[in-house]
Amino acid sequence: MSEMINLVIDGQAVEAERGWTVLEAARYYGVDIPTLCHKEGLAPYSACRLCVVEIRRGNRSQLSASCSFPVQDGIEVLTNSARVQKSRKVIIELMLASCPNSRTLQCLASKYGVTKIRYKSEDRGCVLCGLCVRVCEEQMGAGAIGFFYRGTGREVAMPFHTRDELCRECGACLYVCPVCELPCQGPLQPGELCNACLDTLQIEAFPCRE
Ligand code: FES
Repeated sequence: MSEMINLVIDGQAVEAERGWTVLEAARYYGVDIPTLCHKEGLAPYSACRLCVVEIRRGNRSQLSASCSFPVQDGIEVLTNSARVQKSRKVIIELMLASCPNSRTLQCLASKYGVTKIRYKSEDRGCVLCGLCVRVCEEQMGAGAIGFFYRGTGREVAMPFHTRDELCRECGACLYVCPVCELPCQGPLQPGELCNACLDTLQIEAFPCRE
């Protein structure tokens, strides 16, 4: 029988199995934490930090990515504290600065109250979440794409930017990519977000991905 861990999530005392992440425990008890680079069936990568939560132990507190933070006895998890909300908004803003037309990111911005991009915006077409690399390697067994370069030049590509013979064109990388979908069609001024996805009709036509 699995060993159970006692912790508190948003004021509610709960039990979770040893080995679960805080995200798994929160979702088990119906607590919503947004994620982007996390997908069931793929190894945690903790790239986007969107799943940030505040972890309190005694009088110490830290912000951590819940998708990779293991449940521990006696911790208190806050999924929506002022610190978490502020951090989450900055993370969404930074990702939008890299991919301002992503519908997924636009939906997140609408949901979490981000109305402006304060950072220099340049459409890079990638938020470096690594979902494509992991699905190609772990689910399709191909390993045809990977990360190259460091710092601001970091990118996902095939070796030497030529189609690798390992690629079977299965499309799994495009399927999981949060920014390859139909771009947001809202009227944009530089630095402005349209929040058009708050329009119910558009949401039905092009559902926001969770
Ligand atoms: S979903 Fe946890 S870091 Fe991206």
